[in-house]
Amino acid sequence: MPLLIKNGRVITSTEDRMVDVYAEGETITRIEENIDPGSLPEDTEVIDARNRYVFPGFIDPHVHIHLPFMGTNAIDDHASATKAALVGGTTSIIEMICPGPDDEPSAAYKEWKDLAEAGACCDWTFHLAIVRFDDLAEQQIRDLVANHGVRSFKIFLAYKGALDISDENLFRLMSLAKELDITITAHCENAEAVDSMQQKLIGEGKTGPEWHEPSRPRSVEVDGVNHLCTFAELTGARIYIVHTSCGEAVRRAMAARAAGVDVMVEAVIPHLVLDNTWAERDKFEGAKYVMSPPLRDPEEHDQLWEAIEAREVATIGTDHAPFNFNGQKDMGRDAFTKIPNGIPSIQERVDLAHTYGVCAGRINLNTMVDACSTQAAKIFGMYPRKGEIAVGSDADLVIYDAGYESPFCEADSLSQVDYCGYEGMERRGRAEVVTLRGRIVAREGTYVGPDGGGEEISRDHSHG
Ligand code: URP
Ligand code: ZN
Ligand code: ZN
Repeated sequence: MPLLIKNGRVITSTEDRMVDVYAEGETITRIEENIDPGSLPEDTEVIDARNRYVFPGFIDPHVHIHLPFMGTNAIDDHASATKAALVGGTTSIIEMICPGPDDEPSAAYKEWKDLAEAGACCDWTFHLAIVRFDDLAEQQIRDLVANHGVRSFKIFLAYKGALDISDENLFRLMSLAKELDITITAHCENAEAVDSMQQKLIGEGKTGPEWHEPSRPRSVEVDGVNHLCTFAELTGARIYIVHTSCGEAVRRAMAARAAGVDVMVEAVIPHLVLDNTWAERDKFEGAKYVMSPPLRDPEEHDQLWEAIEAREVATIGTDHAPFNFNGQKDMGRDAFTKIPNGIPSIQERVDLAHTYGVCAGRINLNTMVDACSTQAAKIFGMYPRKGEIAVGSDADLVIYDAGYESPFCEADSLSQVDYCGYEGMERRGRAEVVTLRGRIVAREGTYVGPDGGGEEISRDHSHG
């Protein structure tokens, strides 16, 4: 059904204007100052967006849904996670394919793709984590890039023995990425240093979740960033550093950029609004806030937000990694090293960025759109189909009520996880209506779309 959004304040990464937006089929076909509904087909659905923002659908560049990790599997499936995403205004996600060290890349790609095809309600694409790297893996990676549309890899410098990659393979993989024109996304922490610190702290009887941060301090992350940038300099590969948690890590990345490294930086919403005191909560509640890199001192928030406003940090993702408190997080009651890492945020990200970024005066609305949507589309080859409000773009739109106020709470969450990481925190703003390729899929916190219907996003190599 054709769709007309009238009287809205349309906000993109660069513009802020009062215009009407009309979509026929799945794409935006007209953007004009005053489109007369009488001139449109009779069955056009008209949405009055007076006193509302109209944003391009938001893109989450860092999501885990199917995630076998630390002896368990993340609790969402593609249906629950993507419905939660849509209700929160996120219309496209990039999920991490995270196989184990013995798994073949082709089989992993098929496993994740089958799950997404069967269950995803929003549009999706992948970063393919390269954990196994040998001649067979290289052959399969070449095939996945040439014939299956894989356009970004993920590597872990962390998680010793589980997901990390040797320097020899790092060099080979980054050389391959350069050859294939593929972006390497990377989790930067020194795996050996983390492992040594964990053993030391556990040996001293420091077993609670509050010791997670001291086991992987900022220096460990900064070392990972330097390491990755060195290999990027040697190989010429394009890199994207995921979930950067502190100002110093951003500064190191910017120093590498100044020296010629093609590096982009991502922040994720937990690092922008939560701090390490949350992991110190009693009755083991702190386990809910164990993620890696860990939540830091609150002073880091300002540094990260400033780097976002300065566009040094390109994107705000979630690193949505949902593990239940009961039955999963509590696997680590005896040792913080066994707490599955991750905080669910896929539904809350946009409202958190609005509340603690825009309403707090730290970023403006254009930056919010840029960081939560447009940059991900540009960096990962989806622009201008995604991340933009323009004629020809997909009609992925968020009609946003900035005046809505209600604290975050678990009862509102469509994720299957048994807690809300932001419970009770102030929330200003809500996606009132969300469209995916021209179809209304969410209204006022309720999912109203079909089961399934999300499509794989075809990507090109272009970026920036
Ligand atoms: O704590 C986190 N970030 N969990 C998910 C895995 C990862 O490192 O991205
Ligand atoms: Zn990570
Ligand atoms: Zn992650």
